Amino acid sequence: MPKPSPARKRILSGVQPSGKLHLGNYFGAIKQHIALQDEGECFYFIADYHALTTLPDLQPDVGKRAQTLRENVFDVAVSYLALGLDPAKATFFRQSDVPEVSELTWILATVTGMGLLERAHSYKDKIAQGIAPGVGLFIYPVLMAADILIYRSHVVPVGKDQVQHLEMTRDMAGYFNNCYGKEVFPMPQERLDAVPAVPGTDGRKMSKSYGNTIEIFAEGKALKKSVMTDIVTDKATVEDKKDPETSNIFALYKLFATDAERDEMAARFRAGGLGYGVAKTALLEKIDAHFAPARERRKELAANPEYVECVLRDGAKRARAEAQKTMELVRKATGLR
Ligand code: ADP
Ligand code: TRP
Repeated sequence: MPKPSPARKRILSGVQPSGKLHLGNYFGAIKQHIALQDEGECFYFIADYHALTTLPDLQPDVGKRAQTLRENVFDVAVSYLALGLDPAKATFFRQSDVPEVSELTWILATVTGMGLLERAHSYKDKIAQGIAPGVGLFIYPVLMAADILIYRSHVVPVGKDQVQHLEMTRDMAGYFNNCYGKEVFPMPQERLDAVPAVPGTDGRKMSKSYGNTIEIFAEGKALKKSVMTDIVTDKATVEDKKDPETSNIFALYKLFATDAERDEMAARFRAGGLGYGVAKTALLEKIDAHFAPARERRKELAANPEYVECVLRDGAKRARAEAQKTMELVRKATGLR
């Protein structure tokens, strides 16, 4: 059981269960989440309430919808555990196992102006992608603020796309504190890691929505196809000298290579005589070897769903105890108690 200590900063982040995790998620988020386990008191949750805002778009088949969400939640849980999340260090849970968070969402909604939510980029982006403009999607940032504030979090590791949500969370914490004349919520800060965007197989940012991902747990033929077939290259011949800085094979390779291996590969690109097939094979071997131990752990975990469920329930128990303490303060401040 992780030791709660008032001196340690509380670090919190949420992960959407929206499909298979990819190398962008790993280098942009998961790796940092796992490293932070040793720096503070970490709370990580799988954002299944949030996932409901896009689930009908993700799974058009009504008969399969609930099962898809359950599978995606399980997939994130197993993936994080396999990649090194240690339930003895971090509190790891399913968002909906702490229903108090939806109560706080309502209370925050009552102190938040429409204008704040109308300015949210994420809402406009999702509508532009064709997602139905629902109320849940519109108040997504209020639920996210409740996630952060209910655990009285200090630090929230997120990607650049989530910074506006953190600004809105601070606004909502301030509206509540001002409205009820009590400093119930501490102001959370985002923590942005200086990780450059991981390119996908087509050179754009790797993203599920672009269909250009390399999955963390792909193996065998599927992994080979992602690297050898899907990664797009230009028409340069084997003899041509190539610029490593414009190659997405190199950009991916350097994420896995030591400094010496990276420099050697860059020199081979520049010298000419290196075919893209050879460079891709080197990348394939790196990815395959890097995730081999996690793949094995993942298989063991996937065969033991009771254990995974137990981890999430145990995490939820601890998270819920914290959430209930905050809700006592909130109910007292508002007069609900
Ligand atoms: P997707 O774009 O595939 O839907 P998400 O938005 O679910 O990915 O990503 C979750 C987190 O993973 C992001 O907030 C970001 O921190 C990280 N991430 C996703 N894609 C990348 C990428 N290509 N490069 C770096 N980080 C990424
Ligand atoms: N909105 C975040 C994303 O799409 C997921 C999330 C939900 C989250 N609640 C959170 C992240 C609270 C940090 C803190 O990636």
